[in-house]
Amino acid sequence: MDRVRIGIIGSGGIAGVHAAAYRKLPYVDIVAASDIIPCRAKQFVEHHELVGTAPIDGHTDLLKMDLDAVSICTPNASHHQTAVDSLRAGKHVLLEKPMSVTLHEALDMVAASRENDRMLSIGFQPRYDPNMKLLRDIVQSGRLGKVYYVETGGGRRRGMPGGTFISRELAGAGAMADIGCYSLDMTLNTMGYPKPVSVYAYTSNHFGSNPLYHSEAHKFEVEDFGAAMVRFENDMILQFKISWAMHMDSLGATMFLGTDAGLKLQPHGTGPWSGVWDGQIGSMTLFHDEFGGHTSTEVPLIAHELDLFFEKIRDFAEAVQGGKPAPIPGEEIVIQQAIIDGVLRSSEAGREVSIELPGML
Ligand SMILES: NC(=O)c1ccc[n+]([C@@H]2O[C@H](COP(=O)([O-])OP(=O)(O)OC[C@H]3O[C@@H](n4cnc5c(N)ncnc54)[C@H](O)[C@@H]3O)[C@@H](O)[C@H]2O)c1
Repeated sequence: MDRVRIGIIGSGGIAGVHAAAYRKLPYVDIVAASDIIPCRAKQFVEHHELVGTAPIDGHTDLLKMDLDAVSICTPNASHHQTAVDSLRAGKHVLLEKPMSVTLHEALDMVAASRENDRMLSIGFQPRYDPNMKLLRDIVQSGRLGKVYYVETGGGRRRGMPGGTFISRELAGAGAMADIGCYSLDMTLNTMGYPKPVSVYAYTSNHFGSNPLYHSEAHKFEVEDFGAAMVRFENDMILQFKISWAMHMDSLGATMFLGTDAGLKLQPHGTGPWSGVWDGQIGSMTLFHDEFGGHTSTEVPLIAHELDLFFEKIRDFAEAVQGGKPAPIPGEEIVIQQAIIDGVLRSSEAGREVSIELPGML
């Protein structure tokens, strides 16, 4: 394939970042952009000066066009329908995170990808930080021994979105899905995506529902905080906590406890919207024993100036062009979706719930 013909579904904030990245790739044509709100796609095309891009109302007509692939940039609750429709229409899919709201939806997407032989890739740009790869290499090398406990998550002192992100109908879930999915992807990818068996979780929205802290408190329907303990079939436990807002500076580091060594990580960046794993690794420390004593080693991080978001788009476009497998396969991410689904079920039930993964995975 010489040129790659792309359509964008959902013409909001993140779609503009997709469009800007595709435009840097000389072999890509952004053929069309759509939005469910009439005229919004037209405004999007004009605002981003996308010459030759057709604005379309709704995604159905866009999928009738001659496209190789689509970027899905709609709110979370629309991911399922738009992704399944796109795969059935024979388009490869780059789907924004989180994959879906429920486990059932995620499984349905994986089935549609397989049945139609089209790739489904999920948009986790932090994977393109070379230090995320370094982290995975260290843990996978066996340097830590058997990893039995992982702690991850993160919190913003104040960093609550509004708009489509706080509506139960549109977003499906709040902080867990919005930023928690990054922590889950980082730690689970590092561990080779082990299979979860049960989860015990708590969620709340004390900040989002309080007009003191959120200007749209009357519309705030999702969780702004969540904490969970997840048990895995490889005798590992994950403590996972996430917060859009809190009276605390941090929810602690991400850590991997192994029988031979431990690894502690801090995210990159400062400021009210930092402290979560949606970007790069800021520091990595190995805790180990040498010559009978306790010691620690700062892991030298790889300096780079990569635009992680652009790398995500470039990798997807290259996979489409070269007929390669999905860079971040839906088959893998469905496992973290099972955890988010379990967190929401457990929190509602007020007890531990089991996670059932079908044999197809
Ligand atoms: N990877 C990242 O760094 C990153 C950053 C921000 C948002 N996101 C994800 O991107 C998604 C969109 O976020 P956003 O900030 O752009 O939201 P947004 O609300 O700004 O835009 C979403 C747009 O999709 C439209 N839409 C809804 N259903 C549609 C449908 N069926 N067909 C076509 N258009 C439809 C809405 O009208 C809206 O214009 C979310 O899932 C979010 O989690 C990812």
